[in-house]
Amino acid sequence: MSDFRIGLIGSGRIGQVHAGSIADTKGATLAWICDPFIDGANTLAAQFGGKTTTDPEEMFASGDVDAVVVASPTPTHLDMIDRAIDAGVHVLCEKPIDLDIAKVEKLRDKANAAKVNIAIGFNRRFDPQFESIKNRVQSGDVGKLEQLVILSRDPGPAPRAYIAVSGGIFRDMTIHDFDMARYFVPDIVDVFAAGTNVFSDDIKAENDYDSATVTMRGRGGEIIVIVNSRHSAYGYDQRLEAFGDEGMLYADNLTDTSVKRYSGATTEAAEPYIDNFLVRYAISYRRELALFLDGIRSGTNVNPTFDDGRAALILADAATESARTGKTVSVDGRL
Ligand SMILES: NC(=O)c1ccc[n+]([C@@H]2O[C@H](COP(=O)([O-])OP(=O)(O)OC[C@H]3O[C@@H](n4cnc5c(N)ncnc54)[C@H](O)[C@@H]3O)[C@@H](O)[C@H]2O)c1
Repeated sequence: MSDFRIGLIGSGRIGQVHAGSIADTKGATLAWICDPFIDGANTLAAQFGGKTTTDPEEMFASGDVDAVVVASPTPTHLDMIDRAIDAGVHVLCEKPIDLDIAKVEKLRDKANAAKVNIAIGFNRRFDPQFESIKNRVQSGDVGKLEQLVILSRDPGPAPRAYIAVSGGIFRDMTIHDFDMARYFVPDIVDVFAAGTNVFSDDIKAENDYDSATVTMRGRGGEIIVIVNSRHSAYGYDQRLEAFGDEGMLYADNLTDTSVKRYSGATTEAAEPYIDNFLVRYAISYRRELALFLDGIRSGTNVNPTFDDGRAALILADAATESARTGKTVSVDGRL
């Protein structure tokens, strides 16, 4: 079979990661790069190949693209998914699917009826640590799952201008953790969230929280706890614990090597945690793309779907409401 011709929409931070993944993936060719900032597209094309354009329509109309990876800003995501469906092109779209659930609902029927695969970029499902825990929970390693704890803290806050348009901590940051929660417990019934401002005046001025927790209940009585902070003195903190009646599975943070130093002052002193999401999750971005392409080949949608993107946004909206009102918000039957 000839290579999948992939069009990349957006050549910024995450677009550059996807360009590298496409170039590294057997059976894939970077055919197009679209970005109104044409210098960014041209820089990537010089490195990885592909035609460039400022207008994604030129790429869709060309007929020489089989799939697109959408790595442009969030407000463009639904429009790009819609155009990909119309062009008969498979689409892997970055998270979040959008910030406005009403717009997501509007496209939902068309997306679910589409003949093309639509995947949402919840890459953490493809992190080998978390995937291993998921598979082991599924095979009964901890018995009945009772509690899931997701700890997710960024090394430092994004700039204020980013926070201002991010949709708030729950839609921007916790969105990954909501999807991780649903990876283990798809059927969540209610959401209680608390948010505070403990360190960032900028985030407070944007009417957003810099520290948050979310507690959710699954249909089977599972409790899911998410802990977020926009800063962490010891670096990028990404841990997960699955607790059941027969035991517990735990994924710790990663360091570059496993070397530890022993001295008069400390024992087991390890290197700092991998402090950058692009590096910490590098493998997951590549596996996400590889599995997206496998899904197209086999005619199944193996990645998080349009509806998974929708569900994560519903949970984020519920958490936002809960944190503002102090009340538990039911999502029973809505996901
Ligand atoms: N899965 C993850 O871990 C992850 C990580 C980072 C960002 N993201 C998501 O990826 C998206 C992009 O984030 P980023 O950090 O790369 O942003 P960025 O600002 O670094 O890059 C966005 C790029 O898209 C271009 N662009 C703007 N409008 C466009 C359009 N209509 N068509 C094509 N290109 C357009 C911009 O010129 C820019 O080069 C966001 O939705 C973000 O939430 C996901």
